[in-house]
Amino acid sequence: MSDFMKDAVRGLKKFFQPRPQYITRSVGCEGGERSLALTGTALPEKMPRHVAIIMDGNGRWATRRGLPRSAGHAAGTEALRDIIRATDDWGIEALTIYAFSTENWSRGKDEVQALMGLLLKYFNSEIDELDEKNVRITILGDVQGMPSPQKEALIRAMERTGKNTGLRLNIALNYGGRAELVRAAKSLATQVAEGKIRPEDITEERFGQELYTAGQPDVDLLIRTSGEMRLSNFLPWQTAYAEMVFDSTLWPDFTRQNYLEDIRIYASRDRRFGGVKTGK
Ligand code: FPP
Repeated sequence: MSDFMKDAVRGLKKFFQPRPQYITRSVGCEGGERSLALTGTALPEKMPRHVAIIMDGNGRWATRRGLPRSAGHAAGTEALRDIIRATDDWGIEALTIYAFSTENWSRGKDEVQALMGLLLKYFNSEIDELDEKNVRITILGDVQGMPSPQKEALIRAMERTGKNTGLRLNIALNYGGRAELVRAAKSLATQVAEGKIRPEDITEERFGQELYTAGQPDVDLLIRTSGEMRLSNFLPWQTAYAEMVFDSTLWPDFTRQNYLEDIRIYASRDRRFGGVKTGK
């Protein structure tokens, strides 16, 4: 087959390959979002200030290729690099990614080790670029409970970028949403017991200040890849009014194009925050 024919066949295959599906009815939408998502290439006018992503599907991506699960996590780390760059390029204020939950320790020893290794590698290879781009890194979760080399790298990254004023990059590691709420409640209870605040001083705003995301806007858009439709103990407080997009793409295949389509779905939604649309 000539090179021209090979290119043509490749192009046709790409054109006809199944597109990711968005299963949105189950989260209370009216459908038709997919076609909306595919129109135009510019950024939508209504951009989210804070995006949170559950990067799911690494294991399935690897298994489908006959590879160990760790290969899926390595490919997922590559996908993540460009998603962070895109978030920064598009001027989004905050990005929170779910990298490792408190439950993930129960995975096989090899997989946990591979993830810990990738984490170290990621921080060593990316920190210069992130710092140069004025990105501020915050770790959400129990850093003290991480193995020593990772703990040190995470603390170093937070200290080094702590004064940066650009994209807020929050990495949830050894994170559990309920544990975050309990931690906040304990801190407030201690302040009351010490007479620093009164129980009536505890407002939603004050409570939010005790969370890892203190000072940041609530999550506007939560994306979970791989078609699963669960929150998995991720940011229960911060996502109270978030729009959710469940994207069937497996995380290692998730590109900035998929990301932009999900943002367009977000932009097409009518957010009412419990109220009614003006004029209705
Ligand atoms: C979920 O997919 C993914 C994870 C538990 C890990 C996510 C981590 C990365 C993308 C890379 C490491 C992060 C950094 C910051 C370097 P899964 O393994 O549960 O997939 P499955 O549901 O298909 O099994």
